Amino acid sequence: MKRDEKHDSGRAERRKSSANLTRRSFIKGAGVAAAAVAGIGSIEGAERVGADATVENGVVERLGPGAQAMDLRVNGKTVHIAVEPRVTLVDALRNHLGLTGTKLVCDRGACGACTVHLDGRPVTACMMLAFEARGHEIVTIEGLGSPDRMHPVQSAFVANDALQCGFCTPGMVMSVAAELERNPSASLDDIKRAVAGNICRCGTYPHVFKAALQAAGYKSGKPPGSKL
Ligand code: FES
Ligand code: FES
Repeated sequence: MKRDEKHDSGRAERRKSSANLTRRSFIKGAGVAAAAVAGIGSIEGAERVGADATVENGVVERLGPGAQAMDLRVNGKTVHIAVEPRVTLVDALRNHLGLTGTKLVCDRGACGACTVHLDGRPVTACMMLAFEARGHEIVTIEGLGSPDRMHPVQSAFVANDALQCGFCTPGMVMSVAAELERNPSASLDDIKRAVAGNICRCGTYPHVFKAALQAAGYKSGKPPGSKL
């Protein structure tokens, strides 16, 4: 082969291999980007993911589009469900696990009605995918207390008539309970800050504050109801 022909054929080979690489990298990159945009996590080829299967930063999972089995930790128990990756945590709790105490109102993170605890922190369950809750301890209003063993915040809401229609109440209770867990002697301002994301369309705020401060009294060992 003459020198010029050899040079041309080498250049053609390099162009071909660079085109292949580019196409492959593009497809791979596009897949990763699409998964990231869709907010889905995944372990390639995995049929089932466990309760402790949290996704590390920078790792992209591929899930769905059909239902996929997984474990969640809810109210101290491991529960098994199969949901599509697009299913939100509030949807999974209410429609797949029958925990209808958590309310769905705005479905866009604006009202706080769907507040649950995730590792002790209040989160709006409509703004989180069920798959994102894997590996975390979820507590709903049902797990906080029961009618015969109420949490101090639940009893205080009953004692202070802190509800009317009740739609915002589970979310309010969860927000207040999380605040008192973190800060047992919460002040009125602390309580107001804690429920700032919870909207009560019936306007029961004065009673909610009274109940929260009474519960803070119980939690901190001070005489209940002495702060308002
Ligand atoms: S229903 Fe989730 S914030 Fe309103
Ligand atoms: S009690 Fe009705 S929205 Fe709060």
